[in-house]
Amino acid sequence: MPPAARDRRSGAAVTAADAAAIAAAARHLRDGGLVAFPTETVYGLGGDAGSDAACARIFAVKGRPRFNPLIVHVGDAAAAERLALFDDRAAALAGRFWPGPLTLVLRRRPDAPLSLLATAGLDTVAVRAPAHPLALALLAAAGRPIAAPSANISGRLSPTRAEHVAADLPAAAAVILDGGGCRIGLESTIVDLSQPAPLLLRPGGLAIDAIERTIGPLAIATGGDDDGRPRAPGMLARHYAPSCPMRLAATAARPGEAVLAFAGRPAGARLDLSRQGDLEEAAANLFAMLRDLDDGTARVIAVAPIPETGLGRAINDRLRRAAAAAADDDDGDP
Ligand code: TXA
Ligand code: MG
Repeated sequence: MPPAARDRRSGAAVTAADAAAIAAAARHLRDGGLVAFPTETVYGLGGDAGSDAACARIFAVKGRPRFNPLIVHVGDAAAAERLALFDDRAAALAGRFWPGPLTLVLRRRPDAPLSLLATAGLDTVAVRAPAHPLALALLAAAGRPIAAPSANISGRLSPTRAEHVAADLPAAAAVILDGGGCRIGLESTIVDLSQPAPLLLRPGGLAIDAIERTIGPLAIATGGDDDGRPRAPGMLARHYAPSCPMRLAATAARPGEAVLAFAGRPAGARLDLSRQGDLEEAAANLFAMLRDLDDGTARVIAVAPIPETGLGRAINDRLRRAAAAAADDDDGDP
């Protein structure tokens, strides 16, 4: 496929996503290649979910541990029902929030045409229909489910622009479809419905209250264990991390710090997640601004306190993981 532009640092091919580029990307995917594509949450690194080779390549490119299963993307609930067993709760959530930033962990159909690598050998599968026209067009053109983790190197910040993907991944790793900036900017909320009690595995782009209004209270998964069968390895302690240390709930700048403000505070910040104090705007800016501040000039990135309401819960979750001591580091994904 002819690249529309080449990223200056990595030389990766970034393709402006017109109809021809989508068709070519879908062919590449069906041939076992990888395609990085935009969703409303973050960019995904997609491969044919039915192909062991493609799924293995995803793990290899990301440097991702094998035990960590992938989210399988589909065009709609009907496509998801060919892969997973839906109950009333799953149907209600999919009906209400798909396409959108919600991933459901469901019992995998025994005959589901999925690579065991995509589900890391579990008897469950994580499925989601993304609300992005390019992602949906790619799914339709490929005509099969697409396994896609966030398109970053394991443990690093998720990409919210095509340039982030091009800067992270080796040039030959994937075709990159450029859909501009991601509207939500935080990964999807993950709810596990494979057990009788619904469980929140990862707070994310869909606020928890909206889910609870549909299916009732969610239990919140605790722990950052990596015992080999993690419920959501996104819960591992250190994730989404910039390369320099972070200080949270900073109410004033200290010498040598690059400060990320919220709602105008603290003073003297280099960037502000949202001057208006809008948590949706802050979520959309989070990863891109952390990347901008992580440019090697600051000793520490200090981040203002973020309210623990609505999307603020997901923002604080990502910030806590990014700030976790390097000693806790593991090579788990996201
Ligand atoms: O917004 C998103 O969800 C993005 C975009 C690309 O869709 N994807 C994303 O994928 O964040 P990833 O692979 O970086 O995160 C997937 C999370 C991981 O924490 C993984 O462990 C969990 O989903 N997961 C996948 N399958 C699972 C399963 N069967 N049971 C429990 N957790 C699962
Ligand atoms: Mg990820």
